[in-house]
Amino acid sequence: MALRDIITLPDKRLRLVSDPVKSVDAAVRALVSDMFETMYDAPGVGLAAIQVGIPKRIVTIDTAKKDEPKRPQILINPAVVWSSDEKAAYEEGCLSIPEYYEEVERPARVKVKAIDLDGKPVELDADGLLATVLQHEIDHTNGVLFIDYISKLKRDRVIKKFTKAAKRTDD
Ligand code: NI
Repeated sequence: MALRDIITLPDKRLRLVSDPVKSVDAAVRALVSDMFETMYDAPGVGLAAIQVGIPKRIVTIDTAKKDEPKRPQILINPAVVWSSDEKAAYEEGCLSIPEYYEEVERPARVKVKAIDLDGKPVELDADGLLATVLQHEIDHTNGVLFIDYISKLKRDRVIKKFTKAAKRTDD
């Protein structure tokens, strides 16, 4: 296992549409293991492979609270196959947009299909925080960020802030 670097705004790779995983091989398993280590270290409740610079449709999630046992979930080639008309709002953040939080409204419940580490199909019905995290992470596999759902004014402001900060580090 190894910690991987998390890429941040305005890294253009965050806008890539990730490729489907064709076979769950040793390289995929090693990447998943690194993603969990990186996600727990950050700490975060979800991570998509593109956030460590790998454009593959792989997501790791753990929504367990600090005092609860770990609940790692791995989703390969995940897709939302159903979402409720009912909406729910959560204050979202993203490891690729550090220390920035905004309320986002999304479908309150979703059904997600994916494959697991054995290459077997899995189906998940989720509500609450997990429903939001699933949608947030699946968005990453499609190059979509949670700031795409906030006002253009706020989005432009946060992109500008991170672009300036990145320039300062480059100097
Ligand atoms: Ni994110």
